[in-house]
Amino acid sequence: MSNGAEPFAIASSVHNQALALELDWLAAVLQLRLEQHFQQHAEGFEAAPAPPELPADSALACIICEHGLDAAERLVLALALAPHLRPEVLDLLFVRNQNLDRGFTEFGGWKGQRHGGFLPTGETAAFLLAGADLTRRIALLAQFDPQHPFGRRGILKLDADADAEPQLAGALQLSAEALQRLSTGVWHKPDYNARFPAKLITTALAWDDLVLAPDVFEEIDAIQVWLRHGPALMHEWGLAKSVKPGYRSLFYGPPGTGKTLTATLLGKAANVDVYRIDLSMIVSKYIGETEKNLARVFDQAQSREWVLFFDEADALFGKRASASSSNDRHSNQEIAYLLQRIEDFPGVVILATNLRANIDEAFSRRFQSMIYFPMPDAEQRLRLWRGMLAQPGRLAPDVDLETLAERYELAGGAIVNVLRYAAIQARRQNREHISASDLRQGLAKELRKEGKTV
Ligand SMILES: Nc1ncnc2c1ncn2[C@@H]1O[C@H](COP(=O)(O)OP(=O)(O)OP(=O)(O)O)[C@@H](O)[C@H]1O
Ligand SMILES: [Mg+2]
Repeated sequence: MSNGAEPFAIASSVHNQALALELDWLAAVLQLRLEQHFQQHAEGFEAAPAPPELPADSALACIICEHGLDAAERLVLALALAPHLRPEVLDLLFVRNQNLDRGFTEFGGWKGQRHGGFLPTGETAAFLLAGADLTRRIALLAQFDPQHPFGRRGILKLDADADAEPQLAGALQLSAEALQRLSTGVWHKPDYNARFPAKLITTALAWDDLVLAPDVFEEIDAIQVWLRHGPALMHEWGLAKSVKPGYRSLFYGPPGTGKTLTATLLGKAANVDVYRIDLSMIVSKYIGETEKNLARVFDQAQSREWVLFFDEADALFGKRASASSSNDRHSNQEIAYLLQRIEDFPGVVILATNLRANIDEAFSRRFQSMIYFPMPDAEQRLRLWRGMLAQPGRLAPDVDLETLAERYELAGGAIVNVLRYAAIQARRQNREHISASDLRQGLAKELRKEGKTV
């Protein structure tokens, strides 16, 4: 149509243009390989068309560049994309072997339950890249090694459900996240559900807003250095020989002292996502399914380099001792599994708890640091009060923050609550300023919550 009135017209993105070029290339290679196969000349891979030049700012070009993918790897990726984006390209592979009245073994492939087209397997990739050439076929296997970027970064894998069958018989599976990234340019963030019991945590605050004692900061800084330079220390400095990968830290201290905030800021500063797993939920609710769900979190976290933040970690330390009911035994098993995964995790894991009392030696040996978050002192409380008011002019002249900070021993979390309550009081009475009395009421309410009086 030339008048521009197409009802469903939307602009094709640069990502889609790159995918289309790559799929055109796959179609051309497939066509050529089939011709070679049926004309019985075994060689001729050199004759295959070169991979296309892609728009540099497309997600596909980025992934290729990021992992240094060569033509063979690009072809496997294009093959994994085909059922999602252009399934009919693979229909040519349905051709039957007349002599045997069945499909060709060398094309591989399988039939889905609902998908009508040809679903590629490792064998299909081998047909495209190796044919009867054993050396090429063996080289292809390296693409499905867990250490290959495809596996390590959770891009694609061979489904390994049937143990007794050859590896290349596994279905070629592109991850939902990779498809999303390739088509939109952004990594999709898995949402919270029972099958994925981890939630992305973020904050609008910055390092400068964090108020901690200097010795706590020093310990936090060690984690930050590890986040930035861990891989270099392990590989370039050769620490991998003696040091277990990853960094495990326990944050403990009273509620509202900034444990969660610090974990979130660590991720923000290093530009990695922080995912929070609520252990009390895991241990009590998802008995049975837990291992599988946790495995999902760890696998994703590993391939995407997330920081894992386990909150309410006392659920983990408390339950180990007795195993009277079968539920307890079950959760003991899960805890053992979780500890093992935490110990083997190559990234940063932070566990947080309010209680330190029942953490035994066996646990503490596994942590690289145990960081105590104390209640803030008067000077820190004043910084907290001041830092939380984006507009100091909102305070009425009768408010004396120095005295408030001096007199009331509150953690940062409680100070936020007081401020919120006081602001609501002021707004309710149509005042533009928070008065000393608003704050006093908020303080009284907060202290009552903590079982104290003003
Ligand atoms: N040390 C701090 N520096 C700056 N702000 C803080 C600090 N501690 C707490 N806050 C404020 O209080 C809020 C709640 O703190 P946070 O959730 O980090 O506490 P927590 O130690 O994780 O508590 P809990 O043990 O109850 O989980 C933060 O989002 C922040 O606004
Ligand atoms: Mg917390």
